[in-house]
Amino acid sequence: MSTSVLKPSEMVLDDGGRFKVHRQVYMDADVFDREMDRVFHSNWVYVAHTSEVPNPGDYRTVTIGRQPAIVSRDQDDRINVLINRCSHRGAVVCRAERGHSNHFRCFYHNWIFDNAGNLVGTAQRSGYPDDFDRSEMGLARAAKVGTYRGLIFASLSPDVPDFDERIAHVGRYIDLWADRSLDGQVRIAPEPERYTFPANWKFQAENGVDGYHGNYVHESFAKLLERSGERTLRDITKARNQVGARNYAKGLPFGDGLLERESGMLGSFDVSVQEEYQRRLVERHGEEAAHEISMMRNVYVFPNLYLFESHVRVLRPVAHDSTIADNHFFTLGGVDDALNLARVREHERFFGAGGMGATDDVEIFVYNQTGLQADALEWIDLSRGLHREVVNDDGEHQGHSSDEQPQRALYRRWLQLMS
Ligand code: FES
Ligand SMILES: [Fe+2]
Repeated sequence: MSTSVLKPSEMVLDDGGRFKVHRQVYMDADVFDREMDRVFHSNWVYVAHTSEVPNPGDYRTVTIGRQPAIVSRDQDDRINVLINRCSHRGAVVCRAERGHSNHFRCFYHNWIFDNAGNLVGTAQRSGYPDDFDRSEMGLARAAKVGTYRGLIFASLSPDVPDFDERIAHVGRYIDLWADRSLDGQVRIAPEPERYTFPANWKFQAENGVDGYHGNYVHESFAKLLERSGERTLRDITKARNQVGARNYAKGLPFGDGLLERESGMLGSFDVSVQEEYQRRLVERHGEEAAHEISMMRNVYVFPNLYLFESHVRVLRPVAHDSTIADNHFFTLGGVDDALNLARVREHERFFGAGGMGATDDVEIFVYNQTGLQADALEWIDLSRGLHREVVNDDGEHQGHSSDEQPQRALYRRWLQLMS
């Protein structure tokens, strides 16, 4: 790269008139290392959903930035976020991605930890003195854990805002997402659809609340809908482009973001047209709230979580140019199986590995990473809509769905944490 490494404050230009980000935020391995420290290892990040560990003894392994962790439900029904690292000589103690067990047995020298992280067994005990204190040798734990509507977040550092404060604002949108379930509970499919792409994680973070690209990147999908007689290309474009209606992109506190429209583009995600479901939703929440719940809404919870209509997407940065995305389909509770089945089918044809939506997005991330190799230009521009965004009564930066409020919010938070 031609330029020397910039300070974070030099990588985000936010001068009121223009908003620009330097290409080093995507291209530089040192920036990535710092992100691991500042954005992932000392900040609230999403780890798992309670429905993945419904019963005492259930666990799943996750990564927090680069660090291996276990989310377990112990025998007292408490959720633990344990560091997956043996206190003896450092091997991971849990090698499976998910399972059910009341203990974790280290594969190396057979030390045994219960599912609350306590060391309960040391092989060939006589090699340690009588006063060897096992209580000091349990698994390390995340410094803080917080749960909201089943979404479990953890911070490895104690030096973070209180969870309630962190989640308060975006919580209202998480509520609207979870309240699509008629029993208020979503159930996450344990096996994700997983894809790895050779590009920076922030391209995906920017994209799920980017309402600007749909007409172009997803034109092929729109044409498919047109050909099958479901929607016309013209109607889809009109819905995306309309000004003056609820057709928003919002930048929220803490780097979170939102894309919100009156109704979805995709058949069975558009729950506003499903009569029986709507009747029961109104019965449960009232007319106005039911309308809010039924709107199409993508929610980004900085830095690594997306809530979509069909799935929870978890971003797992691997390197500055490598990312894993885990897409967990979820079912709505209290609804007919037929609705969940229709949602799976809709999910598959847009978001699935053989689908025609998410695959096109991933291709763009790779084009991004490739284009930024060019030395000719060093900055990307995120100024769209800066002249027409408003800060609403709730302190949200709100503008047209095609504008770049969420991306600006992301980089404002990124800069705070990185500086
Ligand atoms: S490293 Fe785990 S028992 Fe030795
Ligand atoms: Fe897309």
